[in-house]
Amino acid sequence: MNKMPGMLDADLRGKVCLVRMDHNVVKKGKIKDTMRIDATIPTLLHIFKQGGLPILMSHVGRPYDKTTGDITISEADAVEAIVKYLENKLQLTGIVPALTATSKEGISDIHPLQDSIDKLKAGKVDFVYLPNTRWFKGEEAKDEKADIFAKALASYADVYINDAFGSWQAHASTYAIVKYLPSYAGLLMQKEVDSLQAVFSPKRPLVGIVAGAKFDTKIGPLSSLIKIADHLILGGVIYNAYLCYKYGVQIEGVSAEDIAQAEKFIKDSGEHAAKIVELPFIIENKGIEYRDANSWKVQNIKDIPKGTKLGFVLDIAPQSFELEEISEIFTEAGSFFVNAVMGYTTLFPEGSMAMYRLIDNCDKAVKLFGGGDTIQDFKEYLPGVFARAQIDPKYYFFTGGGAILDAIQQGSAFGMKPIKALIEKQN
Ligand code: 3PG
Ligand code: MG
Repeated sequence: MNKMPGMLDADLRGKVCLVRMDHNVVKKGKIKDTMRIDATIPTLLHIFKQGGLPILMSHVGRPYDKTTGDITISEADAVEAIVKYLENKLQLTGIVPALTATSKEGISDIHPLQDSIDKLKAGKVDFVYLPNTRWFKGEEAKDEKADIFAKALASYADVYINDAFGSWQAHASTYAIVKYLPSYAGLLMQKEVDSLQAVFSPKRPLVGIVAGAKFDTKIGPLSSLIKIADHLILGGVIYNAYLCYKYGVQIEGVSAEDIAQAEKFIKDSGEHAAKIVELPFIIENKGIEYRDANSWKVQNIKDIPKGTKLGFVLDIAPQSFELEEISEIFTEAGSFFVNAVMGYTTLFPEGSMAMYRLIDNCDKAVKLFGGGDTIQDFKEYLPGVFARAQIDPKYYFFTGGGAILDAIQQGSAFGMKPIKALIEKQN
């Protein structure tokens, strides 16, 4: 049965609750945006209300080097800023246990955690917050090291709650841990999974808007999305690669590999490829780090002869949205799913701004946004619209971007590995 065990069905009284959250919002030691932390507060409040004792954890950044296997521990990726934020916001006291790594393999001795748990049980602190989960040996391991870490961690808790919708990768703290504790979905996890139904059974027509910096990581989900959606709009390097393939042009910075992926994507999509809506106006700029009066121009891809060598194509241009055939697709949409930072940089925000405004004007459409950077763009470019969108029931902001793409690729939220683990454990 595809139903996650929810935390409201768990008896948490007096129990140590190990809670995985996705608080991956710290950059260079500072909080970039609090949305993902705020979204998990209901779960935390419920634990307190039920008399549970929370040990919170999240990953921050990508301190694990996949090639060397080394873990870099630095204050830039520390959880302390999150702890401070929670302490201030909730007027509670947290503690980060003093766990240290003795090698580049990461933290392996977690015994000092006991001291923090004793304080939690004695009521001297209100919550424990573990150091960055990706600082622990085994967190991202594909072998028994993941189980060793998960089992050790589980020995300090009574219950595991996964509220980290955005952390879709199957790691020790999101996946292996389920083997060792009674496990439940948190309130945010349940809400996000429920909301995903709007992508899988959308109000039609569904317009999918996806951008990305690399084709290879997006090709799987895009191949699934193009089947679900009625229209697909591409942005970023993905779109540039598509344009190179389709129009036989060269664009600075687009690799042959990306173009080959674009070709594969189009060929594999078969008849669905016709759903791609091209935004013909693009911004060509001489470099990637500057914008001045003479460095850029708006080009219509349809007017560029085959074989032309273009400079950097950094963004979409607002002129595309003035075209009737494009604006009609927007105004007739039943729903939008947007996971797209259209620009290579934030130097040319006009195109994205025009697009967000157009979406906003579609009063009847359901508007689903996913991905931290996408939401951040929206907020920065159109703060007033964004603020209003927070209380507009037609809008929904997911805390995960990659997570939704993974769900789309799996064909259902229940196919995501951490979620599957919760369901299978219960059955
Ligand atoms: C995110 O910020 O996208 C999520 O927290 C997942 O992070 P990851 O892509 O490093 O796994
Ligand atoms: Mg991400």
